[in-house]
Amino acid sequence: MGNFKHIAIQYLQLLKYSGIDYIFFSSPILAKMNGKYKNCQKCILANTRTNIVYGEGNENADLMLIGEAPGQDEDIIGRPFVGNAGQLLNKMLKAINIKREQVYITNIVKCRPPNNRNPLPTEINACLPYLYEQIEIIKPKIILALGLVSANTLLKTNLSLGELRKNIYNFKGIKLMVTYHPAALLYHPTWKKSAWIDLQKLQKEYEALKKK
Ligand code: URA
Repeated sequence: MGNFKHIAIQYLQLLKYSGIDYIFFSSPILAKMNGKYKNCQKCILANTRTNIVYGEGNENADLMLIGEAPGQDEDIIGRPFVGNAGQLLNKMLKAINIKREQVYITNIVKCRPPNNRNPLPTEINACLPYLYEQIEIIKPKIILALGLVSANTLLKTNLSLGELRKNIYNFKGIKLMVTYHPAALLYHPTWKKSAWIDLQKLQKEYEALKKK
């Protein structure tokens, strides 16, 4: 299995380096943006990254998920949430009848911080214009901030996750909801009960969009 994964990763990288990168994106606009930024040197994460993880998903998504930063698997493959946290995120979406293909997924910073440390304020500030541009393009109706870094960055707050998840916020006219980062749920399975409450709240908001 390990060997198969290794060969699959090499094959995907080969496709990317051959310029066949459009298969990683559902949208030509977003593929173009990714191409435009793939040599970004705006912060020191450029020195250690393998790939920029720009984001992926449905250009017409009503729901945008925003994580913190790529991890090791994401850095290698160049796609967000493909490692263990990503597997859990897929299950979380499935539990509320949302397909991954329906949503758009990205992160606060697009390059992996070494050893998965938290991104530094300078790195976040350098990268935020890319995220704001993505939000402008996708125009989601709901944003789900995954974890503390994502929520506090978007809301410009310094609150605990317990505080943050109590409310639905208005972010540039978009509903913003907060839940635990899937990686945190892997470390603290007892938090899954609270995350389930958040997901049900999200499902209600998401399904209400269809009625509008
Ligand atoms: N954690 C994140 O915040 N983003 C990813 O893409 C993967 C893990």
